[in-house]
Amino acid sequence: MSGLESKSILVVGAGAFGLSTALHLAQAGYSNITVLDKGSQVPSPYSAANDINKILRAEYEDPFYTDLTKKAFDAWKTPLFAPHFRQTGFLHCVSGEAPERAVATLNRFRAAAEQDAELRKQIVPINGKDDILATAWQYREGPLTGWHGYLNRYDGYAHSGNALIAVFQACVALGVRFLLGEKGDVTEITYSGTATNKRATGVKTRAGHRHTGDLVIVAAGAAAGRLVPELGQQVVAKSWSAAHVKLTDAEAAALRGIPVTYARDLGFFFEPEPGTNLLKVCPMGGGYINTDPRTGVSHAPATADESRFMPAEDEKRCRKLLAHTLPSLAERPLINKTLCWFADTSDSDFIVDYVPGTTGRSLVLLSGDSGHGFKMFPIVGEWVKSLLQAKDGKQSVERWRWKQPVPKEDSGKGNWGDNVSWRLGNTEEFESVRPPPKGKL
Ligand SMILES: Cc1cc2nc3c(=O)[nH]c(=O)nc-3n(C[C@H](O)[C@H](O)[C@H](O)COP(=O)(O)OP(=O)(O)OC[C@H]3O[C@@H](n4cnc5c(N)ncnc54)[C@H](O)[C@@H]3O)c2cc1C
Ligand SMILES: *[C@@H]1O[C@H](CO)[C@@H](O)[C@H](O)[C@H]1NC(C)=O
Ligand SMILES: *[C@@H]1O[C@H](CO)[C@@H](O)[C@H](O)[C@H]1NC(C)=O
Ligand SMILES: *[C@@H]1O[C@H](CO)[C@@H](O)[C@H](O)[C@H]1NC(C)=O
Repeated sequence: MSGLESKSILVVGAGAFGLSTALHLAQAGYSNITVLDKGSQVPSPYSAANDINKILRAEYEDPFYTDLTKKAFDAWKTPLFAPHFRQTGFLHCVSGEAPERAVATLNRFRAAAEQDAELRKQIVPINGKDDILATAWQYREGPLTGWHGYLNRYDGYAHSGNALIAVFQACVALGVRFLLGEKGDVTEITYSGTATNKRATGVKTRAGHRHTGDLVIVAAGAAAGRLVPELGQQVVAKSWSAAHVKLTDAEAAALRGIPVTYARDLGFFFEPEPGTNLLKVCPMGGGYINTDPRTGVSHAPATADESRFMPAEDEKRCRKLLAHTLPSLAERPLINKTLCWFADTSDSDFIVDYVPGTTGRSLVLLSGDSGHGFKMFPIVGEWVKSLLQAKDGKQSVERWRWKQPVPKEDSGKGNWGDNVSWRLGNTEEFESVRPPPKGKL
């Protein structure tokens, strides 16, 4: 025992990062962990991982993340996670109308997969409709005009909502306490000391209660900036849209086993969820931010209800994607439309670090998932454990450290993350796409 294990730990957020942290710390013998979440159940409606599926793709342009994802995949294959993992393959293409930038990105992903000895064996080249039908005959009626790319049989998806529930239950069994709903809705972190030399002492909730802890770990996803305002523009609350198509039992059964199907210029969809027969479809785009004009910082809207829609352009792209692949679904109603908020950084790197200006190793920020964090769900908590146990108290992975302030010329509204090569399209303001409030003329 290093003595750390008896520390009392408060984890704010029971999303992908917070639950993984609680799990790994509890398994490592930390015995006084409390997780607070403003959602009244797991998954919380405010979690980006409150969803029926997320892509698990191992190939990254940056081998650092490829290697990490391969570690995560090993963990996805262990008993706690395996029931939620589906290795359906990832059909990664562009359509014939894709802009140059989308084609270039696709090619970089393919090159990355081919450079990796383990992934290389799972790559199947896709040059046109016949190749696609050899892996997904279900798209027979789709024109698939100009589609090309590759299939990676190593990849697949996870049922993110169910995986969160499984880890939540494992945490409960390990003695982790949960405060959910109003009593878990954290409004501020409490400190002792002075503004420049302060120590986190706990949290205060909307219900007015204070909880003390030796260590506070903020894992609040897109809401990180509200609790740790020092973040400034380092983290940008950003969203992408998603919706479902409701299928009949027969339609869903026929689509069982299809790969995650992704056209970089249009969007992607997944195997339907068994039981509900919901097929999730997402458009590709630069996403939406919600910049506070006074501060230049983007925050997620205050209520989940405000995000229950899909911008018209996105819907068009989803329908086009379906028209290319499964045309009989292209005109179906899209239901469960939503904008899903995540914490974006300009370089897509996560942040796993102590908050500068706080003493006593009392405040850790776990954020910056940048829309690609769910695949890491089984291993995120290991990174936090390493940080807590680091002798020098420093994050040894440089790219996960607290980031330097952004240079002025890059800090403009809407500039964030546009240059991350795998995102196509410009980022727009939420205000410019949100539907007018109901009941008002
Ligand atoms: C549309 C979309 C598609 C995505 N697709 C993929 C994908 O294909 N593959 C992939 O790997 N990743 C994907 N992601 C990203 C993935 O969902 C996130 O990386 C992951 O959920 C981040 O985990 P988190 O714990 O940081 O945040 P979240 O999962 O959002 O959890 C944050 C938690 O904090 C809680 N919280 C917030 N504020 C407070 C407060 N004040 N007090 C208490 N609790 C609070 C929330 O209720 C929530 O439960 C996608 C994200 C989106 C939006
Ligand atoms: C856990 O920590 C809290 C806050 O420090 C403390 O009040 C509580 O007694 C501790 N519980 C146990 C079981 O040690
Ligand atoms: C999706 O919509 C259906 C039908 O309206 C509803 O029953 C279901 O709860 C919704 N599911 C999700 C995950 O939002
Ligand atoms: C953005 O991308 C372009 C093209 O890849 C590159 O030349 C430029 O330096 C990048 N800008 C920043 C700020 O990274």
